[in-house]
Formats: sequence, structure tokens, C-alpha cells
Amino acid sequence: MPNRNTNTALSLFDDSLPQQQEFLADVLEGLAQPRKTLPCKYFYDERGSQLFEAICETPEYYITRTELGILTQNMEHIANLVGPGCDILEFGSGAGIKIRLLLDGLHDPRSYIPIDISREILESSARTLLEQFPQVQVIPIVGDYHKDIQLPAAFRAQSAHRKLVFFPGSTISNFTPEEAEAFLQRIRALLCEGDGLLIGVDCIKPTHILNAAYNDLAGFTAAFNLNLLQRVEDSFNTNLKTKHFFHHAYFNEAESRIEMHLVSKLDQLIEIEGRHFKFRKGETIHTENSYKYSLEGFGALAQRTGFEISAVWQDPEKLFSLQYLSAR
Ligand code: TRP
Repeated sequence: MPNRNTNTALSLFDDSLPQQQEFLADVLEGLAQPRKTLPCKYFYDERGSQLFEAICETPEYYITRTELGILTQNMEHIANLVGPGCDILEFGSGAGIKIRLLLDGLHDPRSYIPIDISREILESSARTLLEQFPQVQVIPIVGDYHKDIQLPAAFRAQSAHRKLVFFPGSTISNFTPEEAEAFLQRIRALLCEGDGLLIGVDCIKPTHILNAAYNDLAGFTAAFNLNLLQRVEDSFNTNLKTKHFFHHAYFNEAESRIEMHLVSKLDQLIEIEGRHFKFRKGETIHTENSYKYSLEGFGALAQRTGFEISAVWQDPEKLFSLQYLSAR
């Protein structure tokens, strides 16, 4: 565990709101919908973040190792596109493994601003980075990047240095296409002409590969999904039992997305802080989507949001793409 009192030069900006109250409001709202949902950002408490790391290492989940391979193989090209002395902003930095490759491979990066919703993960990864890259200014921000976040001076629009937004892991897939468009627009607004966005985008592929990736045999994805309910069970006054639900993920071809659900094993009436929610056996809570893009589809999205695609790299099997978008 990171120790908050050690005296390395780490200042952590906490942009998160009174969390439990907001969590409750979001849970109650999601479960009151005709099609029940729970917001996916609550996956990432400490246990959730650890489970996510475990998912990334399963043999079925191709995304992490494929993206790392693409990053490693094309680092020189990436470094030349980005240029020297850049300021980097990363949304959802997590454990911070990919950024290490970038900080190593880019030409003299100046600063790195990781934004993550999990304080624990952010704090420990920022400490490791500080030790490993003493020449880079690391400015971690605890926050929810679905909302507006106050950014440090190094990353304000008028900076004279090249800005790079790093958004790996196909996290863009967890937005609906409309939300993805709005998010890319928000990123574009942070950048000046010529600045860059290095983004991982997962590709459409045969359904059996996708279904396997989100249903790993070791059960980490199931545990990750169910952890959301465990969090509700642990946080509030409720009769909810996580064990009365199971994980279900499948590729919805018409929508080009993996859908993750929590399925009720029985007819049940769940009470949470005085509010009641009826579940039929087999009824689901839709917890997350992961949209899969064609290169053309994503290219059009980038165009519409003020970017030009400077480079697209893929693995030989074309499972995944890493793309460098320049602000027009
Ligand atoms: N963005 C990645 C994806 O969509 C990682 C991810 C987010 C994920 N939530 C997940 C992976 C839930 C598995 C399960 O694949």
C-alpha cells in the first residue's frame, strides 16, 4: 500500500465529489429505469481496479497485450510524430504500465498528468513513476473524466509546448458513439492545432473471439462485473445479495458492441435505502458496453470532431488499432 505520509514530491489533486452520496443517487436512478442499468465508472474501487488488472492478463483478453505490442513496435514513429518536450494527459491511467513505455520512448517528455477515479491506484502508480522518471513532472488528478476537470497550467490551451492526450485500452469503446463523439470534441477543445491524441481503438472481429474475451474462463470479468453489486451490498442499507446475480456478456452484432449484464437468478424485491426494485428471474442490469469499430467508422468520427488521422497501427491479426490523431 502507498503511504500517504512519505515525503516524496507528490501532490495529488482530488476532484472527486462526496462519493457515497453520488454513488447512491446514481444506483437508485439506474435501477429505477425500465431497463435497469448501473454506471460503469463505479467498477473501479480498489478491488475493481485489481480485478481489472487481472482481466488484462487473461489469455482471452487480447486488448492489453496487443496494444502493448503495437506501442512497443512503433515507438520510434510515435515519438517522431509527437516531437520533443511534450506535456501528456491521460484519462483513466489505472496502473500506468503503458505510460512507462511512452515516457521511455518519447523525446524528453516534460510533464505527465494522469487522471483516474481510483485514488489508491493513482497514488501508487504516480509514486513509482516519480521514482522512475525524476525528470518528468507528474501531476496526478483524482477525478471522473466524464465531467469537466480543472487542469493544471501545463495543460491549458495556450501552452507553448506540444500537448499529447493519451487514451489507451479502447476506453473510448465504453462510451456510446454519441458520447464518444462528444468526448473527442472535449479532447479537441483542450488541444491546439498540431497537438496529438494517441488513442487505442478496438476493432470488429469474429464474435467468438469477442465473447471469449469478455467471458474469461478464470472468471475475472465475472468477478469484476459482480463487484459492482458487492459495492452496493457493502455500502448501503440493503437486502441485496450479490450471489443472487450472475455475469453475462455477449456481442450484440446489430449494435457492434459487447454488452455486459448482471442477471437476476430469481424473482426478487430488492430494497436499497428504503427504495424498492422488483426483479424478475432472468431480468438484467446492463452495466457496460464495449463498442467495436471499423477503421472507416472511427476515421469518420475523428474527422467530425476536428482531427486528422496521422497514423494507424495494427497488430498482424488486426485485432486492435492504435491511432495518432492530429488536431486540425
Ligand atoms: N475499455 C476496455 C474494453 O472495453 C476495458 C474494459 C472496460 C473492460 N470495462 C471492462 C474489459 C469490463 C472487460 C470488462 O474492453
